[in-house]
Amino acid sequence: MEMFMRREKFSVRVIVVVIMFFNMFVVCSVSGIGVNWGTQCTHLLSPNTVVKMLKDNGIQKVKLFDADPNILDALKKSGIQVMVGIPNDMLYTLANSLPAAEKWVSKNVSAHVSSGGVDIRYVAVGNEPFLSTYNGTFEATTLPALQNIQAALTKAGLSSRVKVTVPLNADVYLSSSQKPSDGDFRPDITNVMLEIVKFLSDNGAPFTVNIYPFISLYLDPSFPADYAFFNGYQPAIVDNGKSYDNVLDANHDTLVWALQKHGFGNLPIIVGEIGWPTDGDRNANLPNAQRFNQGFMARYVSGKGTPMRPGPLDAYLFSFIDEDNKSIQPGNFERHWGLFYLDGQPKYNLNLGTGRANGLIAASGVDHLEKKWCVLKPSANLNNDQVAPSVAYACQNADCTSLGYGTSCGNLDVKGNISYAFNSYYQVNDQMDSACKFPGLSMITDKDPSFGTCKFRIMIQTDSAELNDQRSLKVVNSPNSLKVVKT
Ligand SMILES: *[C@@H]1O[C@H](CO)[C@@H](O)[C@H](O)[C@H]1NC(C)=O
Ligand SMILES: *[C@@H]1O[C@H](CO)[C@@H](O)[C@H](O)[C@H]1NC(C)=O
Ligand SMILES: *[C@@H]1O[C@H](CO)[C@@H](O)[C@H](O)[C@H]1NC(C)=O
Ligand SMILES: *[C@@H]1O[C@H](CO)[C@@H](O)[C@H](O)[C@H]1NC(C)=O
Repeated sequence: MEMFMRREKFSVRVIVVVIMFFNMFVVCSVSGIGVNWGTQCTHLLSPNTVVKMLKDNGIQKVKLFDADPNILDALKKSGIQVMVGIPNDMLYTLANSLPAAEKWVSKNVSAHVSSGGVDIRYVAVGNEPFLSTYNGTFEATTLPALQNIQAALTKAGLSSRVKVTVPLNADVYLSSSQKPSDGDFRPDITNVMLEIVKFLSDNGAPFTVNIYPFISLYLDPSFPADYAFFNGYQPAIVDNGKSYDNVLDANHDTLVWALQKHGFGNLPIIVGEIGWPTDGDRNANLPNAQRFNQGFMARYVSGKGTPMRPGPLDAYLFSFIDEDNKSIQPGNFERHWGLFYLDGQPKYNLNLGTGRANGLIAASGVDHLEKKWCVLKPSANLNNDQVAPSVAYACQNADCTSLGYGTSCGNLDVKGNISYAFNSYYQVNDQMDSACKFPGLSMITDKDPSFGTCKFRIMIQTDSAELNDQRSLKVVNSPNSLKVVKT
């Protein structure tokens, strides 16, 4: 049962009404659900297209992972509240140099707020810097970076409108039982966590945590799947007279108890990431993602909160759009967290409670490449010793995360698998002829090989795609391996 509380990675986010008390004023920022906007893609929709999607879908706030000026420009005067982010690899510099922090704030906050009309509300300092997998790399630099960014915001006169925070993975706290009331910070980082929490509290800033019930299920096959959703799992866990029938409540309130134990029971909490992936794992599929996100949105919109924190949540869904070039080190599902596919098409019906009951609204004005695919030649000999290296190469440089047990293309036979890999590589390389020259094995077809849940997708046209088209791709067949060289 202690597995119920397991939170290894990632995270999520919640929503709506954030009530913060600071400077003796009650600042009441009311808004709908937020979304995370990540950009680790081979082909990006233009920032203006994404901003239009945000507005069309009634999204009122976004969380970014950096401070890309093109994205911030597109958010100008959009009315959308923004959390900008500082990547972990900048923490060391910002921790050790106040001038660097001042420059960061000047360039990436002040400039956009004052002249550009971008409604920046938060600076996220680092992203899950205390993940166990980082081996403590960012332990010494996160707090000093946070302090320097806060000092820079104060110096820039922005400290009352822009708050700092640190999006943390839910593994910074744990419970020694399945009960939230046994929650406390992870022993190896208790000291730094308490310093950070005090600093946030002193500055009227929120605690941001990413919560992923999907990961509980992914890491522990015996985890009761229904407890991850919002359908009243029984038997509920009863803790100090409060009843827990879903992981989100239990996980969130474990944090509340940890904070309360150290005298910070009223610190505002933002759920920085919450969501469910749609592919790349047997539990990652459209029905589960819809069930989780719709269940979560119903909770969110109800304003009911959690047993320990009744009242509206504040959260950001993870994620708005798929990212096909994320590291798959955590798992193949990493590239499939979006509410929307890469091309801005919605994956399933979802009511975000923003007055648009008809589901998600697709991106407009997106052009796809031609309707053609690269597949295995029917006459190809599967014993050809180029098959294995060709598939390995294609998968390494494109995306094969929809292949494998329980995934959307998990029912393909060997030939189907090979075609899928070839096509993915061909599409990622903007359908260049030279990207469908797997020696003696591949051919281009205008007949869509998709069937059932398995979609052979066509890539979108982007500016970068146009640039890539002007380069040439050479496929070099060497004795032991296939090398594809971009020149
Ligand atoms: C994906 O990102 C890596 C860097 O993380 C880069 O080297 C690689 O070229 C990218 N792949 C594609 C297909 O864009
Ligand atoms: C502003 O943010 C961008 C994107 O995260 C980063 O590359 C750049 O170094 C930052 N500017 C300064 C002056 O630190
Ligand atoms: C963390 O430590 C493990 C084991 O010592 C090592 O394999 C891994 O590469 C380290 N990770 C980082 C990010 O340093
Ligand atoms: C297809 O590819 C996936 C991923 O590489 C693999 O797990 C699966 O066994 C393959 N299926 C067949 C029939 O070869």
